[in-house]
Amino acid sequence: MRVLRISRDDTLISESRILETAERIIPEIEKARDLISTGYNDNFSFINLPDDTEQLNVVKELVREKLILDPQLLIVVGIGGSNLGTIAVQEAILGKLYNLSNPRIRVLYADTTDPYLIRNIAKIMKTTLENGGNVLLNVISKSGTTTETIANFRVLVGILKKHKRKYKEYVVATSDKGSKLWNLAVREGFAALEIPVKIVGRYSVFSSVGLFPLGLLGINIESLLEGARKMRDLCLTIDLDKNPAAVAASIQYNHYVEGKNVFDLFFFSSDLESLGKWCRQLIAESLGKEFDRNGQKVNVGMTPTVSIGSTDLHSIAQLYLGGPYDKLVTFISVEDTGPKIRIPQDDEYSGLIPEINGRSLDEILNAILEGTKEAFRRSKRPFIEISLPDKTESSIGQFMHLKMIETVYLGWLLNVNPFDQPDVERYKKETRRILSKRSVKHV
Ligand code: PA5
Repeated sequence: MRVLRISRDDTLISESRILETAERIIPEIEKARDLISTGYNDNFSFINLPDDTEQLNVVKELVREKLILDPQLLIVVGIGGSNLGTIAVQEAILGKLYNLSNPRIRVLYADTTDPYLIRNIAKIMKTTLENGGNVLLNVISKSGTTTETIANFRVLVGILKKHKRKYKEYVVATSDKGSKLWNLAVREGFAALEIPVKIVGRYSVFSSVGLFPLGLLGINIESLLEGARKMRDLCLTIDLDKNPAAVAASIQYNHYVEGKNVFDLFFFSSDLESLGKWCRQLIAESLGKEFDRNGQKVNVGMTPTVSIGSTDLHSIAQLYLGGPYDKLVTFISVEDTGPKIRIPQDDEYSGLIPEINGRSLDEILNAILEGTKEAFRRSKRPFIEISLPDKTESSIGQFMHLKMIETVYLGWLLNVNPFDQPDVERYKKETRRILSKRSVKHV
């Protein structure tokens, strides 16, 4: 298996400092090592998900069962940690334009309760059903009580009920065993997939949360898990120089304490934009905290941002190269550049930009990346570089597990709990309080 590479040549942090800080992570690495093969007793036990053959078999069996129903449309109903990982992998592997490529199963995501979004999803759903097609709903909520998810699910399952006598066969619920959603699924006879209780939403992509919808879309989930397992083993090594998560966490921590607080993930691949959004949630929700582990008010957290090369060079590059020195950029590129698309050598347009005649698009993109890095160097802006071998399941699995483990190590260095989200819970509670006070408007 080809493994992703991290270059730390341009971080502007000395090697000795990187390794010195990384040493502070050793107790957390040792804790993780002790957790291997012990099930799901700790929030950090997400590192055991790639080894869970029992879960994999349950998911594969359900995928097989539901494919027999011949669905033409999958609607994933969930938000945050319950759908971002799935979107990230789906777009990375199948491409952003997947739904337009006439696939066997199209996929839509119902996350927020934006009536325009849900009306459009409902329209596509109804058209599919009216044309005799089949639609599968996968409702995913760990807590089983997230307002947006339950609201959207109720609207969409209502449509399914109207069109299918045996509608229950077309619903899969993914939740914690015993949650309200789980109990509803059992009562109704929907297929139900369990999320281990200790596995937190944003660390759950390798559980049934991500594996079922991805497997249904034909993604090689075994290979995704294999990549994740390979990276997990590297990130648990005590030989810190060879531990990519410890090294990356150390570099970021050192920049953070020196005043860099905007951490940009600059992907030189359009299909990886949603992977960036998944990272953004992982970093922001895990590390943005009011209190540290000792209950001291600290208000820490870096602001993660996502950029796409070369698109966003025409949007934010001026700020990044000329603005305040408050950013750390990670460039993420893909070595296997994919299809060779050549600019014609001699045609009537060859005078427009003569430098590109006969060159391929990936060659141009690569020159832009190299040019950008050089501009960063000249302006003394630090950056980390990650090169993915390709955009296969294995590479994406590696990258996602790296980011999850790195985030836990950063949480350790910042002395915050990377697994809770007390302030998100606050908005959820407030929303329900407001809704419980307002009388229902009948239209
Ligand atoms: O990472 C998290 O814990 C959150 O982003 C949750 O995934 C999100 O709030 C949705 O929660 P639930 O899966 O309980 O509906």
